[in-house]
Amino acid sequence: MSDFGQLVFSGVQPTGNLHLGNYLGAIKNWAALQQHYNCLFCVVDMHALTTSPEPKDLLRQTREVAAAFLAAGIDAEKHIVFNQSQVRQHAELAWVFNCIARMGWLARMTQFKDKTGKNSEKASVGLFAYPCLMAADILLYRAAYVPVGEDQKQHLELTRDIAAKFNADYAARIAELGAAIARPAGGAEAGTKVCDGFFPLPEPLMPPAAQRIMSLRDGTKKMSKSDSSDMSRINLTDNADDIAMKIRKAKTDSAPLPALVEELRARPEADNLVGIYAALTDKDKASTLAQFAGRDFSAFKPHLTEALVTKLVPIGEELRRLLKAPDYIDAVLAKGSARALPKAEATMKQVRNIVGFLPG
Ligand code: TYM
Repeated sequence: MSDFGQLVFSGVQPTGNLHLGNYLGAIKNWAALQQHYNCLFCVVDMHALTTSPEPKDLLRQTREVAAAFLAAGIDAEKHIVFNQSQVRQHAELAWVFNCIARMGWLARMTQFKDKTGKNSEKASVGLFAYPCLMAADILLYRAAYVPVGEDQKQHLELTRDIAAKFNADYAARIAELGAAIARPAGGAEAGTKVCDGFFPLPEPLMPPAAQRIMSLRDGTKKMSKSDSSDMSRINLTDNADDIAMKIRKAKTDSAPLPALVEELRARPEADNLVGIYAALTDKDKASTLAQFAGRDFSAFKPHLTEALVTKLVPIGEELRRLLKAPDYIDAVLAKGSARALPKAEATMKQVRNIVGFLPG
């Protein structure tokens, strides 16, 4: 790839049904970014191991997530679609980062705290160290941009901290080997910031109206794969009837839609549904409100259902079609992994040299 430093990397865990949050928060954005950047899109199966899945479930869900990428329009010919465990360098770099990151940094991760609650003593070491593996995923390709939902922002900040500490700890060695990169580090004013370490400091890209899609039953809770109520989320495989029913039953308040975005602040369910509509129709919340201000949810919900059905049902159909050909999906992932591997190895070779491992 000739555009070193402008690379996009992102990933999804194969841990259950993909839902509207995954689509609007991440995958839809990928489909847009692939028009402008070279991208790597990864099914992060090693991350999924932290949830102790049945081996056969992990295999099936790995294929399902890959199929969802393709069904959502990711071009696996132009870009690299692969699964993490087929590129062993992810694990190798994660070990180096385990030795860079501090216990205190990881102990502050809210996702770890949310997932373990008071039971952190019983949590696996893998779940605790998970953000180091995520940093390795991104930095192995020295990616500049990482399109994710808001729940991953803290992990991205940690990735930047790990990159900065590696650059600082090994500054002399990086200079001695001439391994530094001096180039734009991206951002709003791309070209103005210069990174002269070995690793760039990657930036999250979050879609403004959809960075945090909330549960349809409770606008203060994130829409998630792990919610026990299927009514709380719209799955990528839901049919038009499921979608219509879930939106009809979605929690709202009794006031009509307001005219101003600020007025949504104290109305989490309204805010969520407006955000979903805006993201699906490529608008912002302000223009969505301009269209629907003063109207009741009974008038708004059919429009929302229509937008969801138009976007998601064809993806669900394509997903089901692709899943009938698991060999094809496996071949896409094998080919993507074979393309990712030399890029990963090029970085790892330099990392081994920087930290002082024998070249082998
Ligand atoms: P995961 O698998 O939980 O989620 C995949 C993507 O979906 C986004 N997302 C949401 N966005 C908006 N609203 C929601 N309710 C919602 N739920 C999920 C997530 O932010 C994410 O972008 N740790 C990551 C996977 C990962 C990764 C990486 C991501 C591993 N290595 C490297 C980027 C780069 C995760 O568990 O995402």
